[in-house]
Amino acid sequence: MRVLVTGGAGFIGANFVLRTLDQRPDVEVTVLDKLTYAANPVTLAPVAERIDLVKGDIADTDLVDELVAATDLVVHFAAESHNDNSLADPSSFVQTNLVGTFALLEAVRRHGVRYHHISTDEVYGDLDLDDPARFTEASAYNPSSPYSSTKAGSDLLVRAWVRSFGVAATISNCSNNYGPYQHIEKFIPRQITNVLSGVRPKLYGDGLNVRDWIHVDDHNDAVWTIIDKGRIGETYLIGADGEETNRSVVETILEVLGQPADAFDFVTDRPGHDRRYAIDSTRLRSELGWRPQYVDFRSGLSATIDWYRDNTDWWQPHKQAVEQGYATTEKVIG
Ligand code: NAD
Ligand code: DAU
Repeated sequence: MRVLVTGGAGFIGANFVLRTLDQRPDVEVTVLDKLTYAANPVTLAPVAERIDLVKGDIADTDLVDELVAATDLVVHFAAESHNDNSLADPSSFVQTNLVGTFALLEAVRRHGVRYHHISTDEVYGDLDLDDPARFTEASAYNPSSPYSSTKAGSDLLVRAWVRSFGVAATISNCSNNYGPYQHIEKFIPRQITNVLSGVRPKLYGDGLNVRDWIHVDDHNDAVWTIIDKGRIGETYLIGADGEETNRSVVETILEVLGQPADAFDFVTDRPGHDRRYAIDSTRLRSELGWRPQYVDFRSGLSATIDWYRDNTDWWQPHKQAVEQGYATTEKVIG
């Protein structure tokens, strides 16, 4: 079986490639990745001989057509993925997340290829802190940011291509991932690498926004479960019951790294900052039998901290530029 993994040099896609090569000897992998700032090809260097790595854009229709024609399955991770960047300049988000997904859908339609679409819980907007509800597959779409609105639009394209053209697709909407190889612009690796660099962690606003954390390996195992057993045309929510305030995540990172629990700064809030995400993954668990392996967030986070401590070569060359970018908009407020 040949799998085309778009965005396979980014955080979740690269973990998917490494895990697939490790666990599925019957699968051959082609990666299509534009190698934007978010990619780190170093991640795939150890498996370079075992994959085809194609540098290219998912919106390049000729290239996509050629690659899709030669594959049995497309797993579509490629995206512009960072909310803060989408607020600064949404254009690449529209181009990659909407136009790029359209190009892939047209190609799988032409060639009759199975397609799995990776998406996010952010398409459902946010919840109040005291709301007992969690997102389900029946929740209404209500995205807040340019990033989440383009992901929502891409999900709707997939649904329409299933219904109108009979494309054999499934969709998954997952909560916040953490784990190795995550770009240091993102919350958890940014704060870990701040502390490792002697810089105080930065919390947006009051630090009480809640995210529902899942280890990247649990996400990718769920993706394979859906590919293997999911019903065509269905959406599955992926989550591991990992709700935490941002402040408690920072306090845990500080504690694990032997720093005082209050050694962080509050900085200006993200415009339109979603308050809380929470996933009810009952469908995935009851229909397909998936269960997360990382049920203790603190130990998964500790292992992730160890990974960044042991792999400074992977992130240190990029740290200064990332922090300089944040410094242009961020002000310490407390
Ligand atoms: P990432 O930013 O780390 O990686 C994205 C990858 O896509 C990069 O390698 C980049 O070079 C590539 N890419 C970007 N534009 C491209 C284009 N036009 N053509 C080809 N390749 C392109 O992102 P991530 O965090 O690994 O997220 C992967 C997917 O998972 C995204 O679709 C995202 O919306 C979704 N998702 C992420 C999370 C999360 O917590 N990170 C949670 C749920 C869903
Ligand atoms: O929910 C899934 C989504 O999770 C994915 O679709 C996105 O691709 C992924 O980036 C992530 O989006 P968030 O906006 O939730 O993640 P981020 O890591 O940017 O921020 C997590 C929380 O931490 C959020 O409440 C903002 C806050 N934050 C972030 C940074 C970078 C801080 O308080 N300080 C920071 O320095």
